[in-house]
Amino acid sequence: MALKHHIDYKIRYNQQVDNSASYVLPFIEKTMPLGKGKNVLEVGTGEGGVLLPFMDKGCFCVGVDLAPERIDIANEMLATEIADKKVEFLCQNIYDHAFFGRFKNYFDVIILKDVIEHVYEQEKFIPYLKTLLRPGGQIFFGFPPWYMPFGGHQQVCRTKLASVLPYYHILPRFLHKAILKLSGEEDAIIKDMMDIKDTQISIERFERIIKQSGLKVLNKQHYLINPIYKFKFGLNPRKQWAPITYIPYVRDFLTTCVYYTVG
Ligand SMILES: C[S@@+](CC[C@H](N)C(=O)[O-])C[C@H]1O[C@@H](n2cnc3c(N)ncnc32)[C@H](O)[C@@H]1O
Repeated sequence: MALKHHIDYKIRYNQQVDNSASYVLPFIEKTMPLGKGKNVLEVGTGEGGVLLPFMDKGCFCVGVDLAPERIDIANEMLATEIADKKVEFLCQNIYDHAFFGRFKNYFDVIILKDVIEHVYEQEKFIPYLKTLLRPGGQIFFGFPPWYMPFGGHQQVCRTKLASVLPYYHILPRFLHKAILKLSGEEDAIIKDMMDIKDTQISIERFERIIKQSGLKVLNKQHYLINPIYKFKFGLNPRKQWAPITYIPYVRDFLTTCVYYTVG
């Protein structure tokens, strides 16, 4: 079932702005004062809405994404802020020579909001992000852990069964694919779902990569109900019950979203 924010990019953009202003920015501010002179990068910026509250605080922002159609929308939605030199949007691979040459040791904050679970070779990607940070810089990650009920990104499915059925994404690939096919999903959606299966990330693997990358967790918050559900579905966000957050593997099945700042 396509949801309205999948079809209408303005709704999606507004949800990004609201969620960022209410949850992402206040979370980052707990460990990093924001304001004039601070440079912020969002990798996988989509329509760019996450960055608007950071511009409003006086930060200079850069949004980068591999999807040209989404960068076009960001350029349209934030045309005034671009003209005022508060933000720049780039459709570029962050591994590109030109990107690295310009932005090595440049950012105070790097944001990956609902992105790390789409990135291949996270073990290589996260240490690379470190090279784009200024000394003392921090990286924010917000993502749905793979084993949560809808960690397979069921919400992007077009058919009722495939979009509301929890947990089937953790079945072996052939069964996962068979359910999507039986439900009547298009090949393009099935491919997207298989891509996410390849790049899946659990809380345990994420924390392991952070440690291996020589980074420290500065702050974390696990949610039973993801803050973005407030703007997408009208549900009240709920923090995870603290004892659950200490039980490896079990917490993955019950936590719809995690926020981390590392540095
Ligand atoms: C689910 S959207 C998130 C958009 C936005 N951050 C938000 O919170 O709404 C994921 C975005 O990440 C982008 N993306 C995935 N892998 C990427 C990569 N390696 N580099 C840059 N962008 C990437 C996709 O094109 C897509 O726009």
